[in-house]
Amino acid sequence: MTERDSPDETEAGAQVPKEREESANTTVFRGVAGYAFAGTDIRADIRQKYGHESDLLELYAAGSERIVHKWHHYIPIYDRYLSPWRNRPFRFWEIGVSKGGSLDLWRKYFGPEAVIFGIDIDKRCAAYNGISGQVRIGSQDDPGFLASVVAEMGGVDVVLDDGSHAMPHVRKSFEVLFPLLSYGGTYMIEDLHSCYLRRLGGGYKHPQNFYNFARHMVDDMHRWYHSFGERLGGLGTECSGIHIHDSICVFDKNRAYPPTHSWVSAPTSTP
Ligand SMILES: C[S@@+](CC[C@H](N)C(=O)[O-])C[C@H]1O[C@@H](n2cnc3c(N)ncnc32)[C@H](O)[C@@H]1O
Repeated sequence: MTERDSPDETEAGAQVPKEREESANTTVFRGVAGYAFAGTDIRADIRQKYGHESDLLELYAAGSERIVHKWHHYIPIYDRYLSPWRNRPFRFWEIGVSKGGSLDLWRKYFGPEAVIFGIDIDKRCAAYNGISGQVRIGSQDDPGFLASVVAEMGGVDVVLDDGSHAMPHVRKSFEVLFPLLSYGGTYMIEDLHSCYLRRLGGGYKHPQNFYNFARHMVDDMHRWYHSFGERLGGLGTECSGIHIHDSICVFDKNRAYPPTHSWVSAPTSTP
């Protein structure tokens, strides 16, 4: 059997006994409530566990009039990828507005020059329009809606997907928005523990698990080195980096060039 003929372990789901897969999906994840912080000092928890200090941490811990909900280990990850965008004019889009508190947080963090848009399928989120950013109502799996919001924003530099977390939605938004992202842009998806939840279309080794898709992005990014061609119709060809953290995946968008290298030396001149 050649490498090309070998069965796709992921798609066959062959390596994991069914009962273990079911157990992983139904009993290990305790639900969001099962991981709620039981202490009182959010700052101390994040500082102590992750050795992290930042304006973002201070802003998050201070809270605002409207509720924002974030996992503690996300704060250092956000700061790592999003701090270069602070205090400059750029276009930020959050999928998932909920109670409006995250748009408040992003406005304080990024500063007045940022163009900030949020979308949500819940019409009640329209109440937050114009407070810390613009809010538009529609679904993250509606390509026409997504394209219309990008057009209104005049382009987009950073997307943060904190929407439904359902596998088909996460993928659809990415397929539509990543090609529209500016070069040098950042596409971040959070709460990807959903990849292991059946009710959101995922599952350990399940074909729709978004990390399978991310794997195809990895393969397409390395298209120079194998003969299998591109699986994602060009999506991966403008991806310059993929960073996987616990429940967060970050894709860097940039032009990619065929690899080249050189040998360099600086011979010392003879007297
Ligand atoms: C986790 S909450 C967002 C939390 C918010 N970003 C924060 O940090 O506080 C997810 C939001 O996604 C919205 N949502 C669910 N399905 C959606 C879809 N298909 N398109 C857009 N938004 C969706 C929900 O209405 C909900 O408000």
